[in-house]
Amino acid sequence: MSKQSILVLDFGGQYNQLIARRVRECNVYCEVKPYTMSLEDIKAFDPMGIIFTGGPNSVYDEKSPQVDPAIFELGVPVLGICYGCQLIAHNLGGRVTAATDDSAREYGKTETYYNTDCRLFKGLPKQGVSWMSHGDYMEKVPEGFDLVAHSDACPNVAICDEKRGFYGVQFHPEVNHTEHGTDMIRNFLYEVCGAKGEWTMGDYCKTAIAQIREKVGSGKVLLALSGGVDSSVAAALLAEAVGSQLTCVFVDHGLMRKNEGDEVEAAFSKWDLNFVRVDAEARFLEKLAGVVEPESKRKIIGEEFIRVFEEEAKKIGRVDFLVQGTIYPDVIESGAGDAAVIKSHHNVGGLPDYVDFKEIIEPLRMLFKDEVRQLGRELGLPEYLVMRQPFPGPGLAIRIIGDITKEKADILRDADAIYREEIANAGLDKSINQYFAVLTNTRSVGVMGDGRTYDYTLALRAVTTSDFMTADWARIPYDVLDRVSVRIVNEVPNINRICYDITSKPPATIEWE
Ligand code: XMP
Repeated sequence: MSKQSILVLDFGGQYNQLIARRVRECNVYCEVKPYTMSLEDIKAFDPMGIIFTGGPNSVYDEKSPQVDPAIFELGVPVLGICYGCQLIAHNLGGRVTAATDDSAREYGKTETYYNTDCRLFKGLPKQGVSWMSHGDYMEKVPEGFDLVAHSDACPNVAICDEKRGFYGVQFHPEVNHTEHGTDMIRNFLYEVCGAKGEWTMGDYCKTAIAQIREKVGSGKVLLALSGGVDSSVAAALLAEAVGSQLTCVFVDHGLMRKNEGDEVEAAFSKWDLNFVRVDAEARFLEKLAGVVEPESKRKIIGEEFIRVFEEEAKKIGRVDFLVQGTIYPDVIESGAGDAAVIKSHHNVGGLPDYVDFKEIIEPLRMLFKDEVRQLGRELGLPEYLVMRQPFPGPGLAIRIIGDITKEKADILRDADAIYREEIANAGLDKSINQYFAVLTNTRSVGVMGDGRTYDYTLALRAVTTSDFMTADWARIPYDVLDRVSVRIVNEVPNINRICYDITSKPPATIEWE
């Protein structure tokens, strides 16, 4: 491992991959490893700096995750974030206690005051908002440490021992709500650890290709291709790594958008790779018939995908590896580690218990959407493909609320196509990151011509976001919404009412199911 690497030790916090992502944004290589990594392995990794993440525990609990105190003797700088900060204090002679009164417990945006003589805050404003989320606080700062930030409620918000290169912050510099948070991480990397900032997505690409080649050897690989950004980038990466050992299987489950199956086939049959399209509409619709509960739909689809891939693998013969374009938000929302299940993404939480492949390879598993796009560009994918809006693996199944029928899928396909066409006509397709129609299970009374109608209500969804972990609803101009509404109720039978979804994520999610 090069001396230009950062080791992120994971103590179970919510934002751990976000820390890694910030480090990559600063052009520094890093890896996230569990806090149980042995001292020997840490030495072998030879990091230029270590970051301790946050975590849900209290350092003074006997069972809480700890580090080997010898880690502080390695001569390697350490940045502790939240729980990580308390761990530094606890290990080096400070005292951490539970905040008994509300004033020392801090959650959310907090005005914070920094000592900019400290290298961590060098060149930054002396005051700004930071994102706090802690119930414990440092009652006593360890010997040799200086206090370098405070808030109105808490005197001990950040500590440092410049000589040894140890820094601890109670807040989360990795989240966007902390003003200049990335600059603080950059200061740790560049001012404290001496990073040169030479790492790029091109390096990620080279490393990933080398790792895939090593793992796959001369084996055969089947890739689950949906035609979306993630699986297309994964396909380009695998094609580069193992060429003709790869077969891309596109399963048309009958829940794709209008004409999408043909478009995917047309695009990928031009690529220099083995491409197979499987028409599986009948079997998917049969399995989904009468199923209403969103998690059940997701699990059925996840399982059926795997069964189709297994069958295709048998036809090819001796396929050991299945590749999926899983990305980090899919992993976290499916409930990684101790995190709660938000929804089982078809390729993670929706996987069946038994999968008949030697191994599943997920080369994008630690990347965020915008990083995947960057990687796609690195691999030479065209901009229209890299910038495609995401389309979830379960497809329209999770955009048809209630039970799914072919008739409903056709209604939704037609309405969604009009919506997308009008958004593109209005030139909004670049600025809105995801937009689609949802067929609600509600029917309402309308009047058309001189007659009464009793038809479906369609919801329109559009969001702006960079990482799809949080999102804001898009402010589409009224005249565009009006055009969409008029066209859909006129052109698509069985829809007589259109609503626009004005909730952000959180508290809603982007998809309705
Ligand atoms: P939510 O609805 O969780 O969606 O806010 C976040 C992003 O993930 C997409 N999504 C999925 N993608 N398989 C996927 O490949 C899935 O099961 C899945 N569920 C949601 C969603 O479209 C949005 O971009």
